[in-house]
Amino acid sequence: MTLILAIESSCDETAVAIINENHELLANVVSSQIDTHRLYGGVVPEIASRLHVENIGVVLEQAIEQAKLDLHDLDAIAVTKGPGLVGSLHVGLQAAKTLALAYRKPLIGVHHIAGHIYANNLVDRMEYPCMALVVSGGHTELVYMDRPMHFEVIGTTYDDAIGEAFDKVARVAGLPYPGGPAIDRLAQKGEHRYDLPRPLHDKTYNFSFSGLKSAVINLAHNTRQRGETLVMEDLARSFEDVAIGVLVDKTIQASLDYKVKQIVVAGGVAANSYLRESMQKAVESTCPDIRLSIPPLWCCTDNAAMIASAALEMYQLKQFSDLSLSCKPMIDLEG
Ligand code: KG4
Ligand code: ZN
Repeated sequence: MTLILAIESSCDETAVAIINENHELLANVVSSQIDTHRLYGGVVPEIASRLHVENIGVVLEQAIEQAKLDLHDLDAIAVTKGPGLVGSLHVGLQAAKTLALAYRKPLIGVHHIAGHIYANNLVDRMEYPCMALVVSGGHTELVYMDRPMHFEVIGTTYDDAIGEAFDKVARVAGLPYPGGPAIDRLAQKGEHRYDLPRPLHDKTYNFSFSGLKSAVINLAHNTRQRGETLVMEDLARSFEDVAIGVLVDKTIQASLDYKVKQIVVAGGVAANSYLRESMQKAVESTCPDIRLSIPPLWCCTDNAAMIASAALEMYQLKQFSDLSLSCKPMIDLEG
């Protein structure tokens, strides 16, 4: 029975998971630093690194305790190698390399976005060819996969990631960081009342959200200057309609063009209820033969279970790293 321990520390979650070859999680521990970063309105890299140093030992111990196993029983140690904050990545990587060296286990360096995509395998099975829409705080990408662990980025954002746009709109609305979940809840009670520009709706698979973000900032400013009240629920609804509309349309178009069997939605913003619902409806009405897979909420935002899931695939493909592995804050998925 293959057993892999995985560590994720690319941003503000210190997480450790242990998985077996049947994709069953024997442990899944996530320690979030969000309450600290919220005080500053966003993630402070220096504080994140320090908290990872404080947390990693405790989280590791909890995971081993949960799984009730001995570290000698493991077959490999996996870790997020990038992209992410350099100081944060470094802590997880050093912990993983230490374990790999001390227990003489192979090391597997996992790309964070591969982890988000393979979160899907914790609850479903990937079918190829497949199209993944990756939507997180740092990424907005359409990724074509013709076989396991083979990624072709066919579209990306020219400027802001969709998660960043959500967080910015939330800030304009006076909501605490990270604002995505709060905008999600507000939008459910709102109406599309504000006229916002539809972001880059061309024939490419690329995205752009900075114009939309600026339009929201200007709208808030002008409304307040006129002494009028900005209805936050309606702002959230109007923003989601245009932002998510373009994500769904381009994903469907790319999936038809590439004749895929499955669409996977991955990353923190995949937790968004309107995106989940819109994607479901769009697939049912335009391409019902394509299977849609959206991971459950618990594995959409950063965790180590998804890293473990990708590592399991890499273990089977014998994609190991040596102990000279260093963290890669900017690494691209195809590299
Ligand atoms: O994948 P993730 O946890 O971290 C990165 O790899 O970036 O994604 C975090 C992002 C944040 O921008 C957060 O606001 C957004 O995901 N997010 C959401 C929702 N839940 C998390 N955005 C919209 N609706 C949600 N329900
Ligand atoms: Zn992430």
